[in-house]
Amino acid sequence: MKGKFITIEGCDGSGKSTQKRLLIEHLRSLNYDVVETREPGGTQEAEKIRELILDKSLTKMSGVTELLLYTASRVEHVNGLIIPSLKSGKHVICDRFIDSTLAYQGYARGLGIKYIQEIFELTTPNCWPDVTIFLNVNPKEAFLRKGGRDENDRVENESFEFHQKVYQGFLELCNIYKDRIINIEADGSKYDTSKLIIQELSDRKII
Ligand code: TMP
Repeated sequence: MKGKFITIEGCDGSGKSTQKRLLIEHLRSLNYDVVETREPGGTQEAEKIRELILDKSLTKMSGVTELLLYTASRVEHVNGLIIPSLKSGKHVICDRFIDSTLAYQGYARGLGIKYIQEIFELTTPNCWPDVTIFLNVNPKEAFLRKGGRDENDRVENESFEFHQKVYQGFLELCNIYKDRIINIEADGSKYDTSKLIIQELSDRKII
């Protein structure tokens, strides 16, 4: 692949959208060709699946169904947008990807990460990100910053305990994937956090 695949991860409210925007502005100022995307979503098919996954009226959806729907939307996204963009030399900046599935479905829903790693490799082979930025903000702080939960989002509406498990899951993933995931202490100002991210990416010769 000629382009780099960069994912941004963190708890709901950790500032991913802001950091994605600041990083993209920086990359474009350096004349990089950048594709901005998100999961679940990113293509028409995947966005349709997103609506289904996050529909708050579906209160009884099982963790396995959730996992398979996130996987289905990812297959559409990877084949329809991510791989073609990387092949044509563009950098892809994606808000959430496989680490969200490992943290939310693997750790917080209790499905385990081995099962999810296998499904990921089977359905979207060779598609691990080149680098992942984890915005380290605990869920309590994240929700305070955000001014509460988004009540229209079924997953975000889960209990505080659930989000605490998601956060612990992300910390475990930082240990497991030390070489790939950059753990960014993201409790400073958005500009300080953005500078940290850019510094780390340039130290690793990603940008
Ligand atoms: P967003 O609000 O960041 O767009 O993400 C939508 C919700 O989906 C968020 O609460 C995290 C959740 N999610 C999972 O549970 N598993 C996944 O694989 C992904 C990509 C997101």
